[in-house]
Amino acid sequence: MPEEVLLEARDNLLSLGDTGIGICEHSHRGKPFVAVAEEAESLCRQIGNIPEDYAVLFLQGGASLQFSMVPENFLAREDTADYLVTGSWSEKAIKAAGIFGKTHVACTGKSNNFAAIPRDVAYSDHPTYVHFTSNNTIFGTQFRSEPTGFPSDAFLVCDASSDIFSRPLEISRYGIIYAGAQKNLGPSGVTLVIIRKDLIERGASGPAPMLQYRTHANADSMYNTPPTFGIYLMSLVFRWIQKQGGLSAIDAANTAKAKILYDFLDQSSLFTATAAPADRSLMNVTFVTGDAGKDAEVISHAAAAGFSGLKGHRSVGGMRASIYNAFPAEGVSALVEFLKDFEAAQ
Ligand SMILES: Cc1ncc(COP(=O)(O)O)c(C=O)c1O
Repeated sequence: MPEEVLLEARDNLLSLGDTGIGICEHSHRGKPFVAVAEEAESLCRQIGNIPEDYAVLFLQGGASLQFSMVPENFLAREDTADYLVTGSWSEKAIKAAGIFGKTHVACTGKSNNFAAIPRDVAYSDHPTYVHFTSNNTIFGTQFRSEPTGFPSDAFLVCDASSDIFSRPLEISRYGIIYAGAQKNLGPSGVTLVIIRKDLIERGASGPAPMLQYRTHANADSMYNTPPTFGIYLMSLVFRWIQKQGGLSAIDAANTAKAKILYDFLDQSSLFTATAAPADRSLMNVTFVTGDAGKDAEVISHAAAAGFSGLKGHRSVGGMRASIYNAFPAEGVSALVEFLKDFEAAQ
């Protein structure tokens, strides 16, 4: 989270503006919070350049609920949905979809432990939708652009949990984009869903009300008590993004930040980046020494030097530097200095 956002939130925990009542204490139906929610949606639309024929929803249940909610609303038992399986999260997504209808693996990177985004993609004849994970948080790969070439009556669904608003998006290419907020948008507990309005109408009417997009769209995301603090923090983060110059500026900053680390890794004789160069994530930089014992040493020395959270996910091992939007370039440079010193000491 950007520090200035946290500082502003700290003050507003005690009193939202001059209301004398903290952000967590306001009723979600009261004017002050309704204004916050309206601002969050409006800023989200401005920053994301979201067209009028898309709804912006603030839901709960994380991206993991969307793994089920998408197929429950759109995948009838006899229908097929295509999934680009590029990591653990898309594996989870396709598994959830299989409960509701048929699924087709359009591609999978499993054979090389998801170190690259597969180029050979074979779609089924009539997929209802095509689902992909734009950034693979665990394996450090990222789609440079949206999948193409699928049948035109299918709509594109994207789990953008770990790179949402890290770069400009052409929203009209998507049917649904969903993202848990906790990487680039705010705290955990709120899920941003951007969904084409005609799909909301098309969604099944069988699911429980909380699991239908129309319920939330018809109630302006206030069918039940929304995650008010999360929505409030998101509005501050959106304002921060705007202040940075919008998504093009954020993209440029992220590209420059990741380059500092990848450039170092590419010339290092100790460390190797694990993702295929063309598919490297700008959000999660995964790297190894090739020796699990040495990796553990790097991680413990790093922790002692103040670099926490560097341990890679257990399914890949090694190291992972998560450098989301709010992570400062100085932090990346400091990490590179640490890694250089560690290498020199070998
Ligand atoms: C790409 C991706 N999808 C889904 C999830 C799961 O999100 P949640 O915990 O919000 O359900 C994560 C969490 O890290 C993620 O990175």
